[in-house]
Amino acid sequence: MTTTDSQHEAQGPASTLPERIGAVHERPIPKDTGYLPATTPSTVPLPHNDLDYSAAEYGHLTGVPAARTLNLPGPEQTLSHDEAMSLALEAARQGIRGANPLVGAVITDAHGHLLHVGYHRGAGTPHAEADALAAARAAGTDLTGARMYVSLEPCNHTGRTGPCSYAVAEAGIGELYYAYSDDTENAAGGAAYLRSRGVTVHAMEEFANASYLLNERWFIAAAERRPFITAKSASTLDGFIAAADGTSKWITGPAARIDGHLIRHRADAVMIGTRTTLMDDPTLDARDANGERFEKQPLRVVMGKTEITDNYRIRGLNPPEGVEADPQNFLQVFTHDPRELLDELYARGVRHLMIEGGPGMVGLFAGEDLIDEMVWYRAPIIMGRGKSAVYRLLVDTLAQAPRLQLDDLGMFPAVRVLGNDTATHMVPEPRGTAKDPGERRVLQKLDACRAPEPRLD
Ligand SMILES: NC(=O)c1ccc[n+]([C@@H]2O[C@H](COP(=O)([O-])OP(=O)(O)OC[C@H]3O[C@@H](n4cnc5c(N)ncnc54)[C@H](OP(=O)(O)O)[C@@H]3O)[C@@H](O)[C@H]2O)c1
Repeated sequence: MTTTDSQHEAQGPASTLPERIGAVHERPIPKDTGYLPATTPSTVPLPHNDLDYSAAEYGHLTGVPAARTLNLPGPEQTLSHDEAMSLALEAARQGIRGANPLVGAVITDAHGHLLHVGYHRGAGTPHAEADALAAARAAGTDLTGARMYVSLEPCNHTGRTGPCSYAVAEAGIGELYYAYSDDTENAAGGAAYLRSRGVTVHAMEEFANASYLLNERWFIAAAERRPFITAKSASTLDGFIAAADGTSKWITGPAARIDGHLIRHRADAVMIGTRTTLMDDPTLDARDANGERFEKQPLRVVMGKTEITDNYRIRGLNPPEGVEADPQNFLQVFTHDPRELLDELYARGVRHLMIEGGPGMVGLFAGEDLIDEMVWYRAPIIMGRGKSAVYRLLVDTLAQAPRLQLDDLGMFPAVRVLGNDTATHMVPEPRGTAKDPGERRVLQKLDACRAPEPRLD
């Protein structure tokens, strides 16, 4: 799959420079990901992630705008250090949230003329530095003595891709500027390594907070040693997922449902509660716009204590004709404790979890401050009463309510029109700052599974 021109088109006079941006989709994506840590007790092998998160994949959906465009300077213009780092941060937003942070990289010559821009397109694809370096390689640019600006300290470890610190040093970059140091497990040490290789390294502390805030929830998830969590909900305009008589199919239209499948496709695992499993009997697989199963499937997870027997489709034992059974890609975690679920998934190598519902699960995780990203599909239907889309969360007064903010990314503009529905993409309001990461806000919740469902009045 290749990227569309519109995706990489720059605005204004610089629009002749798309080749400066890495065209990663035209390069093979590394298959040897080294994904599962050696100590993982997993019996469920997670698939390699070889996705293309480009607009080419999302573009078939009605109303999906082209990716955000980058405002690139003209060839004569020189960039100050601040301008180059601002561009790297802007490039980072071309990526997509999930198992990895958003990162952008800018390469200039020693005078500040822009050479190449790179960004990270999601787990399993090259990191921002590697993306920019690959664009340089493809264009035959000599990088001896060039400067690189990267919004996060280059990683120093081999994960799904190789260490960026090595690649930067080997490319001949003379000076490296970074905004925020990555102290997360396995990644730290990139700046020190580069210094040891003779590269001049500068931490641009005035940009540390902007870089931190861009990925705050990812840093929180990494520090808590749990997957990054995307929650999805599909409701009426007034926030219900089922009518008073229980009817719920379908509230949103096909385009919104296809979009939801794309989130499943990029997640390592997709989780629902036992009641959704029993009531809806979903397959929970990830399918494309034609209804075909993607090659990469998420781990299908059920949370709750009622045993899901073999006859439920989520178990993967009785697939429809033409589909192979994959019972090994299913996991039930018999718990009501989100932390226990997350520990189990993390130990199995899951770094990006999608919560599909039901509303009890979304409310439960929201009340524990465990939602890092929210995608909310809304249909232009009004019902006045029904089952709330987040009922397990108990907010008594407005000041307690978790607040989210719109999150405008290249592949995920904050608000999209999908057929007759809208998709709003959000992240929680910042919890803190780079210097003071703030505290987790745990809210009151309905307790245990016997708690009554919301009264319909
Ligand atoms: N519109 C949407 O986006 C969407 C998405 C999914 C589902 N749905 C709809 O949502 C409805 C079902 O959702 P739901 O919220 O009622 O059920 P649910 O969240 O799927 O499952 C609730 C069950 O999870 C278990 N559970 C796990 N942890 C728990 C905890 N900490 N506290 C309490 N229970 C816990 C309990 O079952 P155990 O007794 O087994 O432990 C509980 O009964 C269906 O109508 C479905 O169609 C809508």
